[in-house]
Amino acid sequence: MIGQTLKHYRIEELLGMGGMGVVYRARDTKLQRPVALKLLKPELIADPVRKSRFLVEAQSAAAVTHPAIASVYDIDEADGTMFIAMEYIEGRTVGRLISEGELDLRGAVEIGHQIAAGLARAHEANIIHRDIKSDNIMVTRDGHAKLLDFGLAKLLDPGLTEDDLPAEVSRTLTRERVHTIAGTVLGTTNYMSPEQARGRPVDSRSDIFSLGVVLYEMVTGELPFSRETALDTMHAIVFEEAKPVPSLRRNLPPQVHQIISRCLRKRPEDRYPDARHLADDLKRLEQTIETGTSLSLPAGERIRGWLESVKTSVPLGNKGLIILAAVLILAVAMLFTRVQWGSLVGPAFLAVFFYRLVRNRKRRMLTDFGKKISKLPEVKAVVIQDDRVTVVLDKAPAKTYIHINSQIESLNSKLFFGKPATVEIKDDLVDAELKRLIRQPGVVYVRNDIALE
Ligand SMILES: Nc1ncnc2c1ncn2[C@@H]1O[C@H](COP(=O)(O)OP(=O)(O)OP(=O)(O)O)[C@@H](O)[C@H]1O
Ligand SMILES: [Mg+2]
Repeated sequence: MIGQTLKHYRIEELLGMGGMGVVYRARDTKLQRPVALKLLKPELIADPVRKSRFLVEAQSAAAVTHPAIASVYDIDEADGTMFIAMEYIEGRTVGRLISEGELDLRGAVEIGHQIAAGLARAHEANIIHRDIKSDNIMVTRDGHAKLLDFGLAKLLDPGLTEDDLPAEVSRTLTRERVHTIAGTVLGTTNYMSPEQARGRPVDSRSDIFSLGVVLYEMVTGELPFSRETALDTMHAIVFEEAKPVPSLRRNLPPQVHQIISRCLRKRPEDRYPDARHLADDLKRLEQTIETGTSLSLPAGERIRGWLESVKTSVPLGNKGLIILAAVLILAVAMLFTRVQWGSLVGPAFLAVFFYRLVRNRKRRMLTDFGKKISKLPEVKAVVIQDDRVTVVLDKAPAKTYIHINSQIESLNSKLFFGKPATVEIKDDLVDAELKRLIRQPGVVYVRNDIALE
């Protein structure tokens, strides 16, 4: 296949193989950009009804755009092969990151949060993923999570009823994959929701269950319901409780277990009602993990943390705090002065003071961010120019990239106005490039072992 062309896509490299077909990296020669091309197995689309149902689903899935969802660019057919062109993600699947030990709790929660937010957007458009699993989530080289294959699982929907599923399944059972009579593949059963395992209709809460399985796997390294055969796994999903997360991993904040077990409830109505609620809980958990680590920080950092928590209890956050302070000071000033021209000098002075405070705040936050990340051993240099932070790293585990990104995102969420800050992480700079970079203005950190000459 390599070197061949399908329509205007030139196939360049094999990326992997899954239940629905083969995935290649290809070049879109019209738009001149890389794409991932998934060539569907012919048997999947042999049935015209199934094919047209799939096309409808794929069209609506392609309409959903979110930073945590890999975009679908195109669906087409050439030489009897149907293929899907989608956003090419340079990175690794969460499945791989787990097996390579590159995730920590914070990284797992951040990925869970990003994916839950993406799911919420898709669910609002009435699109259900149906095949959420760690191999369908990729983390980009710079630490962003992307959910793959939205809407594609519709092709695997066997349309069987509860009564005939177990018999069908047991006849052609393999350890990992379940083949139906039609020859289509249901994929791994490990992430199925109880309603999917029973062949019942699914809604968005089925995705919440599957994301719960992924969270469980990211946190403990184990799958909650994995058994010897696919049929046993499906039985466990429907009837057995997962081992509690804290029994597999100690010293976890209690919320981790609460959140995961709420996703894994057997009855959809006992789970999170929607992905937005799950995303909010994961965000809060992330903040708890952050402040938990700050307990061991010096007093200055702790006071800053305390101010942050005061801020969140005032409506409008930071903005609210400043408005409140300004109103209070103005009221006091009015009380003690008669309203004359001269009396306006005080408030005017205050206004200028506040303006400067706010204007410099982003700068301060960025400097703090630079200081914080320069403590990571892999960081070689940090350069801040206007709203742009460049971080030079040795090759680091994925969790490092995820942390750096989540910190800059939380910084941006605290800005009142102005352009959001961006971060560029460079882990492949050659010596000469690094030296050129650290001679520029805006350098806030250079690691000791980097020679300046
Ligand atoms: N958009 C993409 N960008 C980059 N790599 C991709 C992309 N889509 C898939 N891949 C790679 O191809 C591999 C196979 O993907 P595929 O979706 O066919 O299999 P799967 O996810 O294991 O199973 P399923 O068919 O159930 O989704 C993935 O593990 C991933 O490494
Ligand atoms: Mg996939």
